[in-house]
Amino acid sequence: MTASEIEAQKRAAAEAAALLVEDGMKVGLGTGSTVAYLLPALAERALREVRYVSTSPRTEEAARALGLAVEPFALAELDIAIDGTDQVTPGNWLIKGGGGAHTRERLVAAAARRFVVIASADKPVQRLRAPLPLELHAFGLEATLARLPEATLRAGTPRSPDGGVIADLHEPIDDPAALAARLDATPGVVDHGLFPPSMVHDVLIAGTTGVEHRRT
Ligand code: 5RP
Repeated sequence: MTASEIEAQKRAAAEAAALLVEDGMKVGLGTGSTVAYLLPALAERALREVRYVSTSPRTEEAARALGLAVEPFALAELDIAIDGTDQVTPGNWLIKGGGGAHTRERLVAAAARRFVVIASADKPVQRLRAPLPLELHAFGLEATLARLPEATLRAGTPRSPDGGVIADLHEPIDDPAALAARLDATPGVVDHGLFPPSMVHDVLIAGTTGVEHRRT
């Protein structure tokens, strides 16, 4: 696949997802280069009374520039959230956080009645593989890293908007549920990029022959 084919697939998946948004909805916006195609597709639809929340300052700025009404995430529930992914398995496990926004992305996805994942054809994998993005508390960082010897701080990546330190875990991911449970129980881990199939409602994967729509 060439880079331009992948870009065309990201756009196709994003445009298909934009059609799932309706007037009056509360919508969560993810982060990344695939979501960057979603924003103009939403703006073009000129939907009425849609309220948007964003998972990153980058998305928020781009959405506002297109005239989308982004507000602080102070809503108990969203109708839909749409986001990209770094990996997706046939069983719909995800690894997210390539852009370091996974903590906010999980919060927004978890609040959504429908979480839609958009992906180009380079994202499906048979099995999840490292690195797994982490967000770590800045307080006690050395102690947290001592608990996670396979973790490395992500060079050149600023802290999250919430002050967390972005890192990556370089461990084999044989049992994603067990690894997620271990990380959830590790003091100092704010969040990680493993998203279980139970969070995912739709996966739109664009390929050479169109957009495959997996409903989970
Ligand atoms: C950011 C993310 C992104 O959704 C993920 O990295 C995919 O990004 P892209 O659409 O640029 O390939 O999780 O934290």
